[in-house]
Amino acid sequence: MGEVFAKACETEESQPPSHVRLELERGRFLRAPLVVAVVSSIKPRPGAPEWEQILSAAAVCFNTCLAANALGFGTSWITEWIAYSKTVREALGLKESERIAGFIYMGQPMEKPDERERPIVDALITEWPA
Ligand SMILES: Cc1cc2nc3c(=O)[nH]c(=O)nc-3n(C[C@H](O)[C@H](O)[C@H](O)COP(=O)(O)O)c2cc1C
Repeated sequence: MGEVFAKACETEESQPPSHVRLELERGRFLRAPLVVAVVSSIKPRPGAPEWEQILSAAAVCFNTCLAANALGFGTSWITEWIAYSKTVREALGLKESERIAGFIYMGQPMEKPDERERPIVDALITEWPA
């Protein structure tokens, strides 16, 4: 996959990538021992609208993260430019109707993630009737 990423940025970007950039791309999937690509595959199915099929792919990603964390692994669900690259999509054999919902990086966590500002949940929830 690293060679695919290097080729993708060489062929898709307007400026030739630097040597440093190519090395970064070659190592992109080496940031964890396992990377799982979750692909949303839309099928014409009455009763399962496209939107809900997309949402289920996200649920697969989240549940995969939860399950791996429950087993003591660390996970990172991210996409980055590779999820949208034509070259990468072709290399993975994706059809027009298929999209990458996420790449889930898994491994033994090497450090605890920094704490960050959290949303104020009460400000995001509305009650009906008001
Ligand atoms: C579908 C999806 C795609 C994401 N893609 C990226 C990405 O390309 N680059 C990145 O730095 N983080 C990406 N993230 C991580 C988010 O930016 C964010 O850090 C993560 O959802 C954790 O949220 P929190 O920081 O609010 O806890 C992605 C998350 C999701 C759910």
